[in-house]
Amino acid sequence: MGKNSGYKNIVLIGFSGVGKTSVGKYISKKLNMEFMDTDNLIIDSTGKTIEKIFYEYGEDYFRQLEMDTINKIYLYNNKVISTGGGIILRSKNVEKLKINGVIFYLSAEIDTIVKNLKRDKLNSNRPLLKDSKNLVERIKELYFKREKLYNNSADITIKVDRKQIEDIGNEIISIFRGISSCR
Ligand code: S3P
Repeated sequence: MGKNSGYKNIVLIGFSGVGKTSVGKYISKKLNMEFMDTDNLIIDSTGKTIEKIFYEYGEDYFRQLEMDTINKIYLYNNKVISTGGGIILRSKNVEKLKINGVIFYLSAEIDTIVKNLKRDKLNSNRPLLKDSKNLVERIKELYFKREKLYNNSADITIKVDRKQIEDIGNEIISIFRGISSCR
């Protein structure tokens, strides 16, 4: 969390399928804070789908676009920022997001992630998962590689398994209010 900024943004991190977008939209409505999604900002600024960016230019290029996006938005105030699952792969992103925001890690068991991703269907925002023949193995591989980074990046960890979007959102709102009121 930022030292001298007050905590102005709510930032959601976590693996694909943990509910960052749904929870973020719920919080944004309830607190009347604007919702932003890094994947959507990239789609808007490039005019390309995430899938197209990965296939045409590669993952490194996408990660650079992600960093550019964070650079543009991290000093905003009163935003709910939902991030792509790989945002924690570049430590600079996390450092910047902490300057003006509280980072909530939506943590889920593998089973929850698999269930949610199967329900969502793999859309064109998730090329890292889309082509895998064994979805569960691919999720596990990425998840275990990243678990430590998510934990180390989090200010607050919220377990989401078997909870409703509203419950997760309300839990975050209540913690955020507590932190903001004693800053
Ligand atoms: C990614 C997650 C995706 C998207 C891109 C890469 C990842 O976002 O940014 O496909 O590396 O985990 P979601 O977390 O919204 O699925």
